[in-house]
Amino acid sequence: MPVTIRRFRPDDVEAMLRFARGLPEHDLLFLGRDLKHRKVIEAWQEAVEDGFIDSFVAEDGDAIVGSCALVRDPLGWSTHVGEVRLLVSPQLRGQGVGRRLLEEIFKVAEQRELKKLVARMTSDQRGAIQLFEEHGFRSEARLKDQVMDRDGAVHDLVLLSLPFSA
Ligand SMILES: CC(C)(COP(=O)(O)OP(=O)(O)OC[C@H]1O[C@@H](n2cnc3c(N)ncnc32)[C@H](O)[C@@H]1OP(=O)(O)O)[C@@H](O)C(=O)NCCC(=O)NCCS
Repeated sequence: MPVTIRRFRPDDVEAMLRFARGLPEHDLLFLGRDLKHRKVIEAWQEAVEDGFIDSFVAEDGDAIVGSCALVRDPLGWSTHVGEVRLLVSPQLRGQGVGRRLLEEIFKVAEQRELKKLVARMTSDQRGAIQLFEEHGFRSEARLKDQVMDRDGAVHDLVLLSLPFSA
């Protein structure tokens, strides 16, 4: 069955929770908040409804196998900036799902007239860095020991950015 891409909907919370709980914890460290908690997903959905986040899912049958989000803060001083968040199930990696999700984000960034995109990831996420660099993102900062996993190990985050114009 082909993987389809569509908007993240309010009735996706359970499927998103199953997706998040099936991911290796290390893949979630860039997110700031632990996506394995229902409250975090509910807050994400509320932010979608409030118009602060545009979000899509990749669906295989009735399972979510990937997600992406473009996070903005319309009440802040960086209304021209969007943060990209991208996740694909390890079982489906390398099949172009991440690239398709990122392309949806570019379309929305254009509609929202954003001027800059940023993405954070742990510095060992070679696949993610490669994918974003292929789309023109470049390293802008490294935040040392920025995240701590459940075992107490700390990891650096890298921040990649892209000046954006439609
Ligand atoms: C980053 C991520 C979303 C990529 O998803 P994916 O579906 O495997 O990506 P795609 O199959 O669309 O790959 C697109 C391109 O990215 C690059 N790429 C992806 N994974 C790669 C890897 N492991 N090694 C090297 N390059 C890789 C390749 O250039 C690839 O193009 P190609 O297949 O034509 O060579 C996925 O690896 C992931 O969820 N990582 C963990 C979470 C994370 O760090 N997200 C980024 C934070 S914003």
